[in-house]
Amino acid sequence: MYNRPTYLDINLDALNHNYNYLKSVSGKEVFAVVKANAYGHGMVGISKYLDTLNCAYLCVSSLDEALYLRKKGVVSPLLVLGYTQLNQKVLNAVSKHNVSLSIISMEWFLELVSYDNSSLSINYHIEIDTGMNRLGFKDFDEISEVIRISNEKNITLEGIYTHFHSSDKNDNSMQIQFDIFKSLIETLNYDFKWIHTSNSDAILNFEDSISNAIRPGLALYGYSSSQNELIPIMHFFSQITQRKMLFKNETVSYGATFTANEDMLIGIVPVGYADGLPLGLSNNYNVYIDNVSCPVIGKICMDQLMIRIPEETKNNTVTISGLINNFETMAKITNTITYEILTCLNIRIHRIFRLNNEIFIEE
Ligand SMILES: Cc1ncc(COP(=O)(O)O)c(C=O)c1O
Repeated sequence: MYNRPTYLDINLDALNHNYNYLKSVSGKEVFAVVKANAYGHGMVGISKYLDTLNCAYLCVSSLDEALYLRKKGVVSPLLVLGYTQLNQKVLNAVSKHNVSLSIISMEWFLELVSYDNSSLSINYHIEIDTGMNRLGFKDFDEISEVIRISNEKNITLEGIYTHFHSSDKNDNSMQIQFDIFKSLIETLNYDFKWIHTSNSDAILNFEDSISNAIRPGLALYGYSSSQNELIPIMHFFSQITQRKMLFKNETVSYGATFTANEDMLIGIVPVGYADGLPLGLSNNYNVYIDNVSCPVIGKICMDQLMIRIPEETKNNTVTISGLINNFETMAKITNTITYEILTCLNIRIHRIFRLNNEIFIEE
């Protein structure tokens, strides 16, 4: 039951378009990044749909996210990109629920093989640090040792990967990182099932000659800083719950940061910063009613905001992110990145996933 008229509308046909576009541009299999609640889109709905596309992997940030997806019935192979805190119970769950882990250092790997894995199925990908200086191996001499030990210890090496730090920049940093990675792969001369490097911008900006998979997050959801044919898959709607007159010289909301310079009609909309709308959009963003731009006036409250509305409009539906102003616009205005705006959309917002104009799932 959802009683608040504020919701995110997710178009799975657009997700299908983006998925196939990225697959055909790269000519590689897709490891879809669904971490952080599928970049705010709702990870169960997105993952259940990706199940139907036979996606090679869904990438999550933690074992907790992986187990949550399994609990909800998601069946695709899952890869944890982040750190996993090890103990025997964790490894039993990893094996039971068929979750692949990222091996991030020799120390972590030696701890992994110190547990009793004899009756378990443990699969992993090696993360290589080629310059991001986050997780991953920096000493490449250790990799042959990892391969040797895993052959002895009944654990399965499925893949190897690295991550670019500046795929949105037009410099040669990707080439430098890629050359380091390529030279390692050539030296190892091992028949990896999966080799993967590219996030969204790299898929569209960079030619990777050795990988057989890509790891798109943001582009799947319709955004990239590169030239593309992507479609943003999520729109954000709410409704005017009350209309009222604001008379000349009256103020609006906390701190009275907006003063009417004339009499005007305003609307109250049940969405606020607790939903993830940045406070910096106060007096600084336009929502839309029937394609007519309506400025947000006064400070955005925790659960509500106020807008100026045209006298003639009878429609109560307010588009907060749509075809004109969207999550990318919000990021630009508030001097942040679209990733942050999307991932901060609160789970309390009702999410409706549509496929062929029918409801696929609600979350
Ligand atoms: C290791 C790794 N791969 C892929 C991605 C997806 O990146 P993007 O959303 O830029 O495609 C991320 C995102 O943070 C990541 O950490």
